[in-house]
Amino acid sequence: MNRRYRKTIIAGNWKMNMTASETRKFAEELKAIMPRAKWCETLICVPACNISTAIKAFKDLRVSVGAENVYFEEKGAYTGEVSAAMLKDLGVKYVIVGHSERREYFGETNETVNKKVHAVLDHDMNPIICVGESLSQREQGLTPEWIALQVKAALAGVSAEKLRRCVIAYEPIWAIGTGKTASAEQAGEVCTAIRATIRALYGARVARSVTIQYGGSMNPKNAFELLAQPDIDGGLIGGASLKPEQFVDIINAANQE
Ligand code: 13P
Repeated sequence: MNRRYRKTIIAGNWKMNMTASETRKFAEELKAIMPRAKWCETLICVPACNISTAIKAFKDLRVSVGAENVYFEEKGAYTGEVSAAMLKDLGVKYVIVGHSERREYFGETNETVNKKVHAVLDHDMNPIICVGESLSQREQGLTPEWIALQVKAALAGVSAEKLRRCVIAYEPIWAIGTGKTASAEQAGEVCTAIRATIRALYGARVARSVTIQYGGSMNPKNAFELLAQPDIDGGLIGGASLKPEQFVDIINAANQE
């Protein structure tokens, strides 16, 4: 973390978990144990159908609500999709774009990710852009090129001013939901390389202001060490964000001086 130059953001990604009633129950439980977020911003990204419920339930908790996906077209005949204008109107602040599960199961490409990034920015929300390599790419030594390619493609046509509203989440695919975390050094190294890629594109001032999160089996045990890396400014947390106590422990790790 480097709180002098950029925000620390602890974000949950609930994926396809939690009904509306479970969301309300989670908020009640969280209310009892939520610390004062001194240093970090906190948010939870929930399924689209539960966004309104979550916004109401988290209102007094200083927890923002994010979306897990968006469609890039403005409006029209796209049955089943949700537009950026719809999310904005509900009160959404952050939108996850390009999660590896969407890339793998729903045909998301670097091109659609880029279109979604623009749609989110055009509607004054903040995209959380996910990038990450597979195990075989890591083993072949392809991680640096692959991540740089994903970052550049996602940010194509994004102005320096708008880039300040983007968050990048480095999520090695092999560490997602596997209990296998990247070591703090491995994760820190890639996040430093992501900042270098942004620096080459936008200059040092902009690059140092961008929040870069780590995601992939982050939990109360490893959060502190990961967040101690100078270029890791927060977490995108799946499994551990479904349990109020674990989520709070991670927030506490980010709150330490
Ligand atoms: P896990 O924390 O469950 O590994 O999920 C990480 C993730 O994909 C967050 O977007």
